[in-house]
Amino acid sequence: MTNSIYITTTEPYSGKSLVSLGILELLLRRTPRVGIFRPVIEMPADQQGRDKNIDLLLNHYGLDIDYEDTYAFYRHEVSELIAEGRYDDVLDTIIQKYKSLEEKCDFVLCIGSDFEQGGSAMEFNYNADIARNLGSPVLIVTSGAGESVDEIVNEVKITLEAFEESGCQILGVIVNRTDPEILDDVLEALEEELPETHALLSVIPARAMLSSPTVREIAEHMEARVLYGANQLDNLAYHYLVIAMHIANYLPHLRNNSLLITPGDRSDVVLSALQAHQSQHYPKIAGILLTGGLKPPDSVDLLLSGLSDIVPILSVPTDTYQTAMQIGHVRSYITVDAEAKIRLSLRLFDRHVNTVALEQQLVSLPDQGITPRMFIYNLIQQAKSDKQHIVLPEGTDERILMASASLRRNDVVDITLLGDPAEVENLIYNLGLMRELEGVPIINPAKSPQYEEYARTLMELRQHKGMNMDMALDLMTDVSYYGTMMVYKGDADGMVSGAAHTTQHTIRPALQFVKTKPGFTVVSSVFFMALADRVLVYGDCAVNPNPTAEQLAEIAIASADTAQQFAIYPRVAMLSYSSGTSGEGEEVEKVRKATKLAQERRPDLQIEGPIQYDAAVALDVAAKKMPGSQVAGKATVFIFPDLNTGNNTYKAVQRETGAIAIGPVLQGLNKPVNDLSRGCTVEDVINTVAITAVQAQQT
Ligand code: ACO
Repeated sequence: MTNSIYITTTEPYSGKSLVSLGILELLLRRTPRVGIFRPVIEMPADQQGRDKNIDLLLNHYGLDIDYEDTYAFYRHEVSELIAEGRYDDVLDTIIQKYKSLEEKCDFVLCIGSDFEQGGSAMEFNYNADIARNLGSPVLIVTSGAGESVDEIVNEVKITLEAFEESGCQILGVIVNRTDPEILDDVLEALEEELPETHALLSVIPARAMLSSPTVREIAEHMEARVLYGANQLDNLAYHYLVIAMHIANYLPHLRNNSLLITPGDRSDVVLSALQAHQSQHYPKIAGILLTGGLKPPDSVDLLLSGLSDIVPILSVPTDTYQTAMQIGHVRSYITVDAEAKIRLSLRLFDRHVNTVALEQQLVSLPDQGITPRMFIYNLIQQAKSDKQHIVLPEGTDERILMASASLRRNDVVDITLLGDPAEVENLIYNLGLMRELEGVPIINPAKSPQYEEYARTLMELRQHKGMNMDMALDLMTDVSYYGTMMVYKGDADGMVSGAAHTTQHTIRPALQFVKTKPGFTVVSSVFFMALADRVLVYGDCAVNPNPTAEQLAEIAIASADTAQQFAIYPRVAMLSYSSGTSGEGEEVEKVRKATKLAQERRPDLQIEGPIQYDAAVALDVAAKKMPGSQVAGKATVFIFPDLNTGNNTYKAVQRETGAIAIGPVLQGLNKPVNDLSRGCTVEDVINTVAITAVQAQQT
């Protein structure tokens, strides 16, 4: 089940506040620990001011959350960072702030940006990207104001397509502010035009009260002086009426809740309008706005100030034309003191949004998986939470030193480097990393005090294989043997190597004496395949050339456990060239047997096979080839039948899609040792060290 929703719009003034009030009311029935999070907010006009939407929700529901924890950026900060090419930093900070709020809550209601600066395709993309990275399904709010049935339906179709294309999980679309006359037609047309959609479709009618500003909002926006009637500033102004005519001519034009705009020297209009307001035969007015900086003369002022219960009369310096133009830009907001607006919003939401279906959607939405950015964020946080000591045998490799510097700067792990200290220090100096790497132990295996002791242990462990002390002393000069022995002895918690050595060279010592952990007979590996929108687990693509059915079952179980260890929910697909019961052949039989063995050993896991790759990932193919399967169409862990298939598939996906392959991560070992590829980047080293640290925490 999902634990967040991302409410987003595609245009300004579509009524997110109404929807967020309704959703929050719904969520609070389930748990009081609901958080509010807005990735990007507008800078309030008043520097001390707060975001209206957040303020409304925090105060109306008395949520116990610090305002500062509820947003990540002001819009101008985001624009500046993007202009500097630092969009990744924007996303990282948003994830970081979201995650720290999420820790304190059972559910987080995210609200997208306001689109108030005109809105753009870019703003749409950013919201979609943020929602995806937070793993939140989106609830889209559009405005039907002033639109026909066809226009609304087209807009909904295009919006749904755009969000689907951007890889977001969609909870539903709410068309707000729709002309009440066409409400049923819109709903009918949407259901007709979008028969296949699983998304919730709701239509909420427009209400003048919600789109009308209060006289107070008008006064603030226009910087008007309140001359009279300050106690009625919460009157809502449904219409604006510019009065230039004489009394007999303008009175018939009065409408309920109008704000009258007239020059300040038209005391006749002021007095007659106040009379009309009193009369049972004319509508009530919201207030009067006097233009041109002119105020009623003293005699009229005396009269007006002596009246009790008078509608607000405001004064602005601008002329009538300018005032009329400017007043069109006044926006109405649902603020915490606008109780009638809040009550109406909740009533409309309850009446027009199918809240039962919405709740069902929330419960039934599959776990969307985790985006690469979130995966890496979680990884580093997890590693930091219980600091481990990692040995890096390749101290003379620049990438290892740069990664070590970054890991120390961020306090992720403790590090020991292997290599000739003079050579390593020289390289550190040349790279300018003296400060970051100050105090890091650098060990030359052959000259270390532990050298002989380590060699003796190796000899004892491998005596049955013909190892003598000379051979052991010789092997212990090799950084892979020395580093692995540090881990074996508990002098380090894990080892990462392979930036300058082959896989065989790196992992052979671990296979020889770290050995497999209880319950496992083979060491295998997985790659975390970081695709654009999710992270998949591929195993085994690096170690076992041709596993037996028993070994394949073990690899599947180990891979599922590794996935779980890194917060990826495992749905395991045992890959073959056949799906379900259709195909035959020795290789298919091996996979079938392996699947059965794995299912028997671990009934708690979702493991299915044999299954083809397309049926494992695509819901439509899955529906045809393996209907009713828990795994088909939504697999997250992919087990390849042998190394030929696995190694080539991971490389093909990596090359053809630009996916980042993190690994190989070894599994099944008693203690963590991991391999790097020789083409690795600094980022790869950082990630692999963090993975090793997390494995070490759980050893
Ligand atoms: N699990 C557990 N133990 C193993 C495994 C395993 N998968 N494989 C070997 N061992 C043990 C053996 O039992 C043996 O133990 P022992 O000496 O105590 O009896 C020891 O490791 C050495 O075994 P060897 O058969 O000599 O294996 P070797 O060290 O030559 O090779 C290796 C092992 C490296 C895993 C080998 O199977 C191999 O080369 N696999 C393919 C690696 C590769 O090239 N991958 C693709 C490239 S990597 C990439 O693309 C990222």
